[in-house]
Amino acid sequence: MPGGVLGNHRSGPGLEFVVREARGPHLWDTSGRRYIDYLLGSGPMLLGHAHPSVVAAVERQLSRGTTYMLLNEPIIELSEELVRAVPCCEQVRFTSSGSEATFFALRVARAFRGRDRIMKFEGGFHGTHDYGLMSVSPRSPKAFPAAMPDSAGIPHAIEEDVLVAPYNDLATTEALIAQHHNQLAAVIVEPYQRVIVPAPGFLQGLREVTRRYGVLLVFDEVVTGFRLAYGGAQEYYGVIPDLAAFGKVLAGGFPLGAIGGPAAIMRYFDAALEGTPEHVWQTGTLNGNPVAAAAGLATLAELRRPGTYARLFATGARLRDGLAAAAGRHGLAARVSGEPPVFDILFTDREVADYRATLTADRRRIAIFNEECLRRGVVKAVNKIYVSLAHTDADVEETLGVFDQALAAVAARTP
Ligand SMILES: Cc1ncc(COP(=O)(O)O)c(C=O)c1O
Repeated sequence: MPGGVLGNHRSGPGLEFVVREARGPHLWDTSGRRYIDYLLGSGPMLLGHAHPSVVAAVERQLSRGTTYMLLNEPIIELSEELVRAVPCCEQVRFTSSGSEATFFALRVARAFRGRDRIMKFEGGFHGTHDYGLMSVSPRSPKAFPAAMPDSAGIPHAIEEDVLVAPYNDLATTEALIAQHHNQLAAVIVEPYQRVIVPAPGFLQGLREVTRRYGVLLVFDEVVTGFRLAYGGAQEYYGVIPDLAAFGKVLAGGFPLGAIGGPAAIMRYFDAALEGTPEHVWQTGTLNGNPVAAAAGLATLAELRRPGTYARLFATGARLRDGLAAAAGRHGLAARVSGEPPVFDILFTDREVADYRATLTADRRRIAIFNEECLRRGVVKAVNKIYVSLAHTDADVEETLGVFDQALAAVAARTP
């Protein structure tokens, strides 16, 4: 395995470990050491690991077969649940990952609009396909709307088809859409971008300007779906896009994603159109997988229990506010940014309203913070703290103690 890792997530020198098992909010490595987990599989494990009802649902499905590439009851039920839960979903199409969901949302948008170009926001991440990996983390950003590839191997031609706008800057975004709307198929946005909260009116303004010009608005709800609210960011912020992409929580820890939208757009996926210029080819061996669907359905059933989101937000707020208070105690210039279910600390004194503000954050300090947390048994994503429903008050107490010590180490090592 190149680099000895699975992707981009690395633990830091001397802190590497191999997971033996996970339950609830905890991971254990092969030496038996326990960690409190705020990576949560990069987000899917909102209920915590190996939740009994998810395990039971998966076990029930396993003995009935693991994949068919044919209609099956769990995937039909999951599509019905998505339509019930998410305002923009009238029809759904399944994929095997969040990256595929955003990729095919953009493809169907291009087919519907008969235009090729898309707009995304600087710093927004939509997965690892060629259109998504544009201006996600440029060290020296270009003037808007020029796109910069974040990876080798992306054809230069793609840069031409992606326009990049500044998140939370409605005036600039509106002006760019007004100028380029005739070539634009869609604007794709993480409604809550990484850990940056949308400014009041930003998503509403984006909705209005895209509607005015007939450009499709795509919400990437891969992180926010079923996490900020049962109906996702569109319910939480009260703005309904044309299309939405899902992954992570939807499949309760199995590989599955989805695209949802109105029938007028989704009909382009219909195989009855095969052979016509309108047809959008979207298929995959494991799409509609019944084991993933069973895990997803069991996860969503738990999330529908009364009081679930209040509990998630209360746990997240305690951690988030405790982290901010600890940074203050240690005299560190820091912003703890984000909504309670997923947030992080940025070592900057600037308000974090867009990607360029995140560039002012001290990269060495966050690397030290992440390493010092891990050294003390707290696992987090490089730039996120994911909160689960399995984290107890005792976990929160223990974590706040670790945050405090890690911040003391940051202060000591970067005076
Ligand atoms: C907002 C967002 N969109 C899309 C993706 C891609 O999803 P996947 O990793 O399932 O391909 C991610 C993954 O982290 C994400 O955070």
